[in-house]
Amino acid sequence: MRRVVCPGSFDPVTNGHLDIVSRAAQLYDEVVVAVLRNPNKQALFTVDERVEMLREVTKSHDNVTVTRFDGLIVDFCRANDISAIIKGLRAVSDFDYEMQMAQMNYSQAGVETLFMTTNPLYAFLSSSLAKDFAKYGGDVSGLVPSPVADRLAARLRGG
Ligand code: PNS
Repeated sequence: MRRVVCPGSFDPVTNGHLDIVSRAAQLYDEVVVAVLRNPNKQALFTVDERVEMLREVTKSHDNVTVTRFDGLIVDFCRANDISAIIKGLRAVSDFDYEMQMAQMNYSQAGVETLFMTTNPLYAFLSSSLAKDFAKYGGDVSGLVPSPVADRLAARLRGG
């Protein structure tokens, strides 16, 4: 069985993430979406809320599962018999950091990283931008799945 992980902080999941997960699901027997903490980012949603949203928006894919993990991605891969990570690359600006992480993960644990080019429709999109846009009253319906847009609006109202 060919199994791959799509890791990220997903705070919250965007249409760009969903596009990568859907395309990975066509290439692999099983895709595990793993929600990890990124210590460099301040979160709007708890990890459990992010997992819940991801489960809802990936439920049409039979071969996609969603889980959380506290720790190193390479330890998650080892524990789940996963030999490769798939990441979306939006632009050159993503590359340095992603390259460093990929090389670190390969050198320390032999875990491969495969980069998938982001659909140009979502090349500008990030969770942070979607949150900012929503915060100032922007319409995020084309940026995040609709259940996520609803949760975002509710959270920004204080819910
Ligand atoms: O969506 P993000 O915030 O770009 O995802 C980054 C994430 C969470 C995948 C990355 O920070 C990560 O893998 N964190 C887990 C801890 C880890 O393994 N760090 C070492 C990377 S060299």
